[in-house]
Amino acid sequence: MKDEQVRELLYQALETEKGGVEIYTTALRCVENDELKEEWEEYLEQTKTHVQIVEDVLTKLGLNPDEETPGRKVVRHIGESLVQAMEMALSEGEPGAAQLVATEAVVLAETKDHHNWHLIGEVVKHSKGDLAKILKAAHEQVEDEEDEHLYHTKGWSREL
Ligand SMILES: [Fe+2]
Ligand SMILES: [Fe+2]
Repeated sequence: MKDEQVRELLYQALETEKGGVEIYTTALRCVENDELKEEWEEYLEQTKTHVQIVEDVLTKLGLNPDEETPGRKVVRHIGESLVQAMEMALSEGEPGAAQLVATEAVVLAETKDHHNWHLIGEVVKHSKGDLAKILKAAHEQVEDEEDEHLYHTKGWSREL
């Protein structure tokens, strides 16, 4: 495991969480089902906390959370594209359609989010010292929430 890859993973994780905030904010403009709305409101708040958690991890590791990386740019681009896709569906104005697009956008975004945290969990298993300690604490805080984010919205996407 290379330090460079861990750094890149953490920067991508931060960008994914930041994109997540924008995606949930837009998804909440698309939602029609009250129960789903409630879940997404909760996930938006949790995602804002995840941004904070990853920023803290980077700072504790002596890394600048604002540093740009090539991978980060790609993640941002995908996030912005998902927001645009929802905007497109909203502008069509067809009942239910934007909500469906939003569930798919959330599933795509949460697949990446879930994957990042899974990999962070793997890094914990294969590292020692401060790095392991800092990542383990962060991972324990978000792991269960990421499972719920992905699997619940996948379920909604199927049901709707
Ligand atoms: Fe997250
Ligand atoms: Fe998530």
